Amino acid sequence: MRAAVVYESMYGNTRAIAEAIGTGLRPTYDVSVIRVGQARPAILEEVELLIVGGPTHAWSMSRARTRQSAAASAEKPGSRLALEPDAIDVGLREWFESLGRRFGRAAAFDTRIDAPPMLTGRASKAIARRLQRLGYELAARPESFLVTKRNTLVAGEVERAQAWGARLASTLRTV
Ligand SMILES: Cc1cc2nc3c(=O)[nH]c(=O)nc-3n(C[C@H](O)[C@H](O)[C@H](O)COP(=O)(O)O)c2cc1C
Repeated sequence: MRAAVVYESMYGNTRAIAEAIGTGLRPTYDVSVIRVGQARPAILEEVELLIVGGPTHAWSMSRARTRQSAAASAEKPGSRLALEPDAIDVGLREWFESLGRRFGRAAAFDTRIDAPPMLTGRASKAIARRLQRLGYELAARPESFLVTKRNTLVAGEVERAQAWGARLASTLRTV
């Protein structure tokens, strides 16, 4: 069985979570972890499970404007943030617009600041809605993985992401 984890990431945190989810899925699935700019729609024809995740920007999925603002923060003198390849060019929102109707199982995740979701918003909710609108059946509730205000992953989140992937794979094995 094949699975794809498609992610968007400005500073690498969501990529690290996507890779950990891929590791969790791997005993069960042949997994490709793909950044959104490289995720050709044809890839989706080949997978039984699609996982999509991105950073929470302005309470939801990024927009061109928020990605530019993220890039500007990384370029400030003294910033420790490094931009991921083609991070500014394409986000999940634009990618979803390029997809036609689909069938299959999918799940959504995001990264967001470690604070109550009422204050931070959760991109994963919007991602899950887009997946459903395309025709996917959700295999899990949208999940958030947390970063600090300094844009580093909270301790234990990589392990939690791997466990989330493994749980998802074992749930689907029994379906
Ligand atoms: C322009 C911008 C807007 C953001 N807005 C939010 C927000 O509304 N809620 C939140 O929890 N985090 C927000 N963040 C923090 C991001 O969620 C965080 O940078 C991201 O999870 C890090 O993932 P990445 O390293 O993969 O880009 C924002 C970050 C940027 C750059």
